[in-house]
Amino acid sequence: KRNIAVMTSGGDAPGMNANVRAIVRSAIFRGCKPFAVYEGYSGLVKGGDYIKEMHWEDVRGWLVEGGTLIGTARCKEFTQRPGRLSACKNLIDAGIDALIVCGGDGSLTGADVFRSEWPSLIKELLDNGQITREKYEKHQHLNICGTVGSIDNDMCSTNATIGAYSSLDRICRAIDYIDATANSHSRAFVVEVMGRHCGWLALMSGLATSADYILIPEKPSSSKEWQDQMCEIVSKHRSRGRRKTIVVVAEGAIANDLTPITSKDVKDVLVNRLGLDTRITTLGHVQRGGTAVAYDRMLATLQGVEAVQAVLECTPDTPSPMIGIKENKIVRRPLAEAVKLTKSVAAAIDSRNFKKAMELRDSAFSE
Ligand code: F6P
Repeated sequence: KRNIAVMTSGGDAPGMNANVRAIVRSAIFRGCKPFAVYEGYSGLVKGGDYIKEMHWEDVRGWLVEGGTLIGTARCKEFTQRPGRLSACKNLIDAGIDALIVCGGDGSLTGADVFRSEWPSLIKELLDNGQITREKYEKHQHLNICGTVGSIDNDMCSTNATIGAYSSLDRICRAIDYIDATANSHSRAFVVEVMGRHCGWLALMSGLATSADYILIPEKPSSSKEWQDQMCEIVSKHRSRGRRKTIVVVAEGAIANDLTPITSKDVKDVLVNRLGLDTRITTLGHVQRGGTAVAYDRMLATLQGVEAVQAVLECTPDTPSPMIGIKENKIVRRPLAEAVKLTKSVAAAIDSRNFKKAMELRDSAFSE
């Protein structure tokens, strides 16, 4: 009988509760004991009451709930070795055999570092007399698994992260609302959306709401280029009788000299060059709130079931898995590889090598 802990980490995402629910119930179904680590890595570092056994009825109704009911945090201590040492001790004290982390690339990077450091952490605990030799022998390996929860959809090796489609839905609804007032006043709106360094939310919401222009980090251009192009397109749409203008800007949008393109920059161009009455709407955390859409409930549930199965099948020699979705099928990928690839894509984007970034992203799906 294994003790399997689940934790949510980083920015909350709709569907995280559905993931926790599926993990808790699948673990029980397979004769294991599920635990929840409250408040993400911060709870892992603190231990004690932050690690609680979960029962079937504890997660009743969690399928539809937004946010994460076991809490999350962006934890500084865990980025340092002393924090990870105390997390290691707390897991051993609670008798946890496997840890499933639902979070974004930062959280899964943390999980991967923790796993690779585990042998030296337990050795240090043994040498300091903080764990018995019996516990040391029993907890030789950290069995870890990642399920990707983030609204940003920025992780390699999966087509979709848990929460991304809910967030996309929220953004589209907000733009639909904005459309009405934009049309009424014949105004322009610059809508700023989240996504950190990834333009997926901006690109997909722009596409789904027929925005006039979209600015994303993955396609930077010179200031002159994007400004001229945007003005030309908006003017063309206006000359055909379109009364409203919507420009979607990803929060990470950059020009090709790597300077950020802000909503204010976009507004200034629309006002100064086209004379449009323009407003900025920064959607902010509304994009992360609310219940999960059906796709995220389904994705989170299937990934939770697969995660439990994966930790039960993992041997000390199996690389830690990350659960993703590829062409509508739930897949297991090596966590370390997915993390490494995601970082390489970010580095390629930072160095403006977009072709390489796209090739790297695609390589995540070649067998
Ligand atoms: O990673 C999810 C995300 O919502 C990003 O899109 C955004 O940049 C960031 O988190 C906001 O973080 P916080 O909630 O800590 O302000």
